Amino acid sequence: MAVFVAKQSLLLPLLLAVGFFAVAVSAGNFYESFDITWGDGRANIFDNGQLLTCTLDKISGSGFISKKEYLFGKIDMKLKLVAGNSAGTVAAYYLSSKGTTWDEIDFEFLGNLTGQPYTIHTNVYTGGKGDREMQFHLWFDPTADFHTYTIHWNPVNIIFLVDGVPIRVFKNNEKLGVLYPKNQPMKIYSSLWEADEWATQGGRVKIDWNNAPFKASYKNFNDQSSCSRRSNSTWVTCDPNNNSWMWTSLNAAEYGKMKWVQDEFMIYNYCTDFKRFPHGLPKEC
Ligand SMILES: *[C@@H]1O[C@H](CO)[C@@H](O)[C@H](O)[C@H]1NC(C)=O
Ligand SMILES: *[C@@H]1O[C@H](CO)[C@@H](O)[C@H](O)[C@H]1NC(C)=O
Ligand SMILES: *[C@@H]1O[C@H](CO)[C@@H](O)[C@H](O)[C@H]1NC(C)=O
Repeated sequence: MAVFVAKQSLLLPLLLAVGFFAVAVSAGNFYESFDITWGDGRANIFDNGQLLTCTLDKISGSGFISKKEYLFGKIDMKLKLVAGNSAGTVAAYYLSSKGTTWDEIDFEFLGNLTGQPYTIHTNVYTGGKGDREMQFHLWFDPTADFHTYTIHWNPVNIIFLVDGVPIRVFKNNEKLGVLYPKNQPMKIYSSLWEADEWATQGGRVKIDWNNAPFKASYKNFNDQSSCSRRSNSTWVTCDPNNNSWMWTSLNAAEYGKMKWVQDEFMIYNYCTDFKRFPHGLPKEC
């Protein structure tokens, strides 16, 4: 019964939006799904729209933005990160809305020296405020092959997954007074850029331009499980039926997997950083 009540209360605000949102159909094709927005030729689409690469050299990085904006979705992208010495480079892949009280759901991939582990940095901003970092190493080499990075965002929770394995959940804690992203549509952004002041080993390891151009590759974009609209406002509906991605959270087995990742591979968790929050941890912790 409790579950039923919760669902209904979430459903109500959602229904207001549903009439305007579309079942996404253009999954996979980068020409149809994204605009390259910067980098002056350093980001490119290949293979009939099936592959996208971003490069970074001494002059510029590069990046792209989705044509659609999303209000909830389970969105997959396969990435292959910068091989070799990627220290000082950051590949960002995130959802963000606009304005000063924006919401944002972040993956950032911080490069490293050859043989040293990449760091996956995650964060959630609500109402323009973030400070919710969790960082991980990975159980594979993310530069050797493509792996799937998923943002599963629904009214119940935001789940970050890597190859289908949940690594982090940000729950809807509105009942505790924590803002939750649920009203502002977000676009998908990605870019490869230089951030050697802070990215690698706290900024101690600088970028080595001898290895430029650096390259990150993207394929198998999938936004079929989402509510979305084109920015030109051709709104249609999505179908958030009861058992779909729209209402799911982790089951016990998935929690077990997430615990394994967090026990073995998590290197930073804002929720245990008492030094940073001397007056008390954030409420959702
Ligand atoms: C780089 O490698 C070092 C040493 O293994 C590790 O502590 C660090 O988390 C790695 N990632 C970054 C972004 O510095
Ligand atoms: C909106 O954009 C899509 C794809 O970019 C296009 O197919 C459609 O015709 C556009 N609709 C309007 C009303 O401009
Ligand atoms: C969805 O859930 C509601 C409330 O639990 C129920 O009344 C309805 O029949 C369900 N619909 C489907 C398609 O399962």
